[in-house]
Amino acid sequence: MQIHSTIFSLRAARNVVGCSAGRVALVPTMGNLHDGHIALMTQARAHADTVIATIFVNRLQFRPGEDFEAYPRTFETDCARLEAAGVSHLFAPDEAEMYPQPQGYHIEPPAAQAGILDGEFRPGHFRGVATVVMKLFQIVQPDVALFGKKDYQQLMVIRNLVREFNVPVEILGGETIRAPDGLALSSRNGYLSESERSEAPRLYRLLSELVDAVRAGSRDFQLLEQRAFAALKDHGWMPDYVALRKKLDLQLPSVHESGLVVLAAARLGSTRLIDNLEV
Ligand code: PAF
Repeated sequence: MQIHSTIFSLRAARNVVGCSAGRVALVPTMGNLHDGHIALMTQARAHADTVIATIFVNRLQFRPGEDFEAYPRTFETDCARLEAAGVSHLFAPDEAEMYPQPQGYHIEPPAAQAGILDGEFRPGHFRGVATVVMKLFQIVQPDVALFGKKDYQQLMVIRNLVREFNVPVEILGGETIRAPDGLALSSRNGYLSESERSEAPRLYRLLSELVDAVRAGSRDFQLLEQRAFAALKDHGWMPDYVALRKKLDLQLPSVHESGLVVLAAARLGSTRLIDNLEV
């Protein structure tokens, strides 16, 4: 695996691939890779001749007081895992390479998509994500790019970004990978204490119960959301939201709507976990 820390070096390698008419897949990450990321790399290999992974902890998508500084940086282990997963190129720039001057231009996703759910609790987050992802698209010029469905709203924002800016990139979503007890894999799981880690799968269990209830015909969505929210609180969580939404645009569904997803975000101790399940 070739490791590139500059745009110049990455572009030179990208041009070589371009000359041999190979299809290029991009898998952007912030590092601290787990099996969910590796599954995306494997999926990428099935769709392209060359996989380019990126590791960059993007300051723009963190709010003051969030975990930008604490975000685990595990570069050596990440490289070994990417190499084993058959990734050919890693682009791992530092901040001066990605943001040589303060970023003046930003991609501002519409509030209807980026001001709801996670965007309500992390204002500006999706602006930071959309801006860095657009930069990565310009730098790497991939044919296809992969993002995990665990960040469901992020995936929707990126799909819309690509459509509205006519970016010639196919976007693919990767299924959420879970621990045997159901907890969705996340770099932030490493923040959990032992007792929090054993409590954490409750989020998945409650979402599963809610999905079962909807599948069984329950249509009082608000009541289902409130029950799951209250159950989290009863067990010491601080939930931000539990929300049943339309899969396509994450807007409120009407009672007889199909194609739903339930999404939740909640804090367990100081760790904020998110998860979702398609109905
Ligand atoms: O999902 C992530 O890890 C990040 O939001 C991404 C897409 C790499 C952008 O920084």
